[in-house]
Formats: sequence, structure tokens, C-alpha cells
Amino acid sequence: MAASLPFRPFEYMHWAKHVAPGAPFPMHVSGLPAPAPLPFAVDLSSRRVFEPPAAAREAFSERLLPYIGALGSALLPVSGASEGVFVALAALVERGSAVLVEQPAYRAMERVVQFLGGVPVRVPRVEDDGWRLDPAHVTAALRESGAGVLAITDPHNPTGASISLPERAALIAAVERAGAFLVVDEIFAPFRGAGAAPAWAAQSKRVLSIGSLTKGWGLSALRCGWVAGAPDLVHRGAAVFDLLGVNAPPATLYLAASALGHAAELDARACAAAAALRAALAATDWGAAALSPPDTGITAFLQLPAGLSSGAVATSLREQDGVQVVPGHFFGSDRHLRIGGVAEGCDLTEGCRRIAARLNAPVR
Ligand SMILES: Cc1ncc(COP(=O)(O)O)c(C=O)c1O
Repeated sequence: MAASLPFRPFEYMHWAKHVAPGAPFPMHVSGLPAPAPLPFAVDLSSRRVFEPPAAAREAFSERLLPYIGALGSALLPVSGASEGVFVALAALVERGSAVLVEQPAYRAMERVVQFLGGVPVRVPRVEDDGWRLDPAHVTAALRESGAGVLAITDPHNPTGASISLPERAALIAAVERAGAFLVVDEIFAPFRGAGAAPAWAAQSKRVLSIGSLTKGWGLSALRCGWVAGAPDLVHRGAAVFDLLGVNAPPATLYLAASALGHAAELDARACAAAAALRAALAATDWGAAALSPPDTGITAFLQLPAGLSSGAVATSLREQDGVQVVPGHFFGSDRHLRIGGVAEGCDLTEGCRRIAARLNAPVR
């Protein structure tokens, strides 16, 4: 990676795009592959794909807003949750101001805050408490840092922890009391299943919810994401988007609207994948490693036995055991590995067994 970049790059994304393909046990993935056959179709030769985008946006919103339980919200379609994170934070973060982010975390939010000239302040998720984000910690951190924004991911990457509805209410109340804003990346929500919880933005005018069809539905290739929330906040995001993308592509929006017509089926597939991973994790004797089982999604954050470092272990697992995992340092902890995966094309139980055996092997 170029050393001379005028900003701090998102190291994990660079790594993820360059993982050597072909691991017999691809346990680094956090999303499903596209369903085969696709349960939906759109005639892309139709003229309407080339017409002004308002009708495509309407077709998409009509299906998306009820699906995410945010009927009264405004919606901005963007290119994946990645662009959603950038748009939402650029709409809210002021130069020089503190922004609360999580530790551990998928670092896109922290890097975008830095890119925007904000100052990330990390709030810990508590491993011994199922990777809980404690509203009391958030309240204290908001007070001490003077942060104007809290930026989190729920369900969480890398741990798979999902914030309960009462804790969600407590976090929203803390943000509202502080006069701050909340940005929630909800890309893993489909793994909870249809209707399990509305988008966070449905519950407060100070929240922007980000979503995408990438992970649970396996539709990364569509680059279909969104930012939802109160109209005044979403309009701020739209002003950022004016600098980036002109319009979300109608072809993507029509394909996404068509996929949303099969939401129940696609959510069920995501839930089945999450259940398969939980079963494989539960069937494994982790020995000196420690695992807080994920509530949702297809990733978990495994604590390494003392003395091991995540990069070295990940290299041995790939080279000697054929198992690809993600070194935890990308998420802010060298003492963990992110493991996970999809049972389609990977024996997760055998993959877990190999990971546990490697971690518990005597050091030579
Ligand atoms: C938490 C989180 N947000 C966003 C993304 C990127 O999603 P998209 O493909 O929708 O841009 C990822 C991908 O790994 C992710 O884990």
C-alpha cells in the first residue's frame, strides 16, 4: 500500500481484497455468497433502467422502508454500506470534534472520522459481558469527550453481538440527553430475521441507520446500500452524496426492489447460515482459547491463548491447516481471531476443530 497517502487507509479492506483465494476452509468471510439460483429477476434491457431515476428510487423505497420497519423515514440509496458510512459521518462530523467509536470494531468508521478531521474516541465493548456496549460507558464517554456523534455497528462485526431492544433504548436516550447524533451500521440486521427489530432510525430523529444487501443476502455485487433517518439528517447526507455519486444506479435499485419481494426467503437463508455457524462453534472444544458465542451473523471473535499473536496464528492456520481466518489486529485486538463462515462449501465443524487444535498445540 502506498506509504505516501495523505490519509490513514482502511487496512482491513486492503487485506480483505488481497486474501489468497482457494483456502479449503474459508473462515474469514462475513457474508453469504449470492443465492443460486437467484429467486428474483429483472429485465435489464427495459427502457426504464435508462430513464430518470425517480421511479427506480420510488420502487426501491416502497419495499425497503416497510422491510426495515422505518415507514416514516427518509431514505438515501447509496453504493453499499461503505458509502453509507462515509455519507452519514460526513453529514455529521465536524473538524476537530470527538466522535465515539467502538473497540473492537470494523474500522471503517474510525478511518472515515479521521479522514474527515474528527477525533475518534474508543468506547470498549465488554468481552466478559458478551461484548456488550454498556450504556453507562457511553454516557460517561459522551460527557468526558464532548463527542457530538456515536458511531456503532449493530449487529456487531467482529463479535456477532446484537444489542437488545432495552439497551438500544438506553443508548438512544444517552445520545439524545447529550444532544449528540447516533450513526448505526446495520449491515448484519438480515441475520436476525424478518421483523426481529426495526432500524434504529425508526426510534429517534437523532439516528441515521445504514444498511445494505451485501452480507445476509449475498448481493454485494449490486452495491445496494442506504442511509435512513429523519428527513433533515438524510438531506444532510444527500448533500454529501452530491459530491460522490449523482444518483444510485436505477439498474441496482430495480434489482434490489425485486430482491426485496423475496425478503422472507432471503432472511431465512441468512438465519440458517447463522445457526449453522453457531452449531459448529458450540460443538468445538476450544481448550485454552475463549469464545463468547455470537448472537447473530456469521462471525465470532475468538480470544487466543496467552502469548499468541493474531497475525502469526492466522498465517499458520492458512499455511498448515488450510483455514483462512482474519487476524484480530484489524479490529483492534491482536489477542483475537475473527472466525466464521458459511456451511455452503465449507465444513465449519472441521474448520473449527482445526483452529482449536492449532491454538492448543504445544509451542515448538
Ligand atoms: C460492518 C460493515 N460495514 C460495511 C461493510 C461493507 O459493506 P458494503 O458491501 O455494503 O459496502 C462491511 C463489509 O465487510 C462491514 O463488515
